Amino acid sequence: MSSPSELEPSAVVSTVQSLLRTRAMLQWQSELDAFVELLVANRVRSFLEVGAATGRLSLYLAERLELEKVAACDLWQSPLLKAAHVEFFRGDHHDPAYAEWRARLGHFDMVFIDADHETGFRRDYEIELAHPHTFIAFHDIANQAYPALRHFWEHEVTGDKVAFVNRDTSLRFGVPAVAFPFASWPTFEDYVAECGHACGIGVVRPAASGAITRQSVAG
Ligand SMILES: C[S@@+](CC[C@H](N)C(=O)[O-])C[C@H]1O[C@@H](n2cnc3c(N)ncnc32)[C@H](O)[C@@H]1O
Repeated sequence: MSSPSELEPSAVVSTVQSLLRTRAMLQWQSELDAFVELLVANRVRSFLEVGAATGRLSLYLAERLELEKVAACDLWQSPLLKAAHVEFFRGDHHDPAYAEWRARLGHFDMVFIDADHETGFRRDYEIELAHPHTFIAFHDIANQAYPALRHFWEHEVTGDKVAFVNRDTSLRFGVPAVAFPFASWPTFEDYVAECGHACGIGVVRPAASGAITRQSVAG
């Protein structure tokens, strides 16, 4: 999905409206399930989402995991996040004002990067590496629409890494499933033709800070 900053003003309005209309997190269920398992296994208590869109993912994780600290950033503020009083930075992740805001918030166990998938992801990573965290996750590392992001994840991101990639082609996109038409896609088939049956969530822990716990005690 193009970011609002790359679109004409009328397309921005329609993309944001389309996002708000959907009741969905822009995730595949199998990837989200595996990600939640990792968050539980690693006792993640704080979460920062860069590119929060509707904010449903942050709010879902906050409730499901009873997180102690949740914050989000996007170019626009979802009314859901406003209503939930989530710490929010409205603006460009690459703006110097973001770094000031981020520094004030201190350590996050998990930083989830899901913003500019075309080129900005490298800068997103550098910015978050400079702030205290345990894990950084990238969304869309297996989305066929973003080959540069996939290459970056595979060849440039270093540390202990794990990736969750949906393989179940019977699943629909979104949690719960997105209703089409959605954003620039008239149908689910059009979406899959461009993006494939997976987004992919890649999680990295810097080598110096230890390994990722891959399974919960119960798992
Ligand atoms: C794919 S959506 C995020 C979906 C959301 N994480 C979820 O799981 O439902 C990408 C979001 O990133 C935001 N975005 C893109 N570039 C950005 C930037 N430079 N700074 C902040 N937000 C950005 C867009 O406005 C859009 O809402």
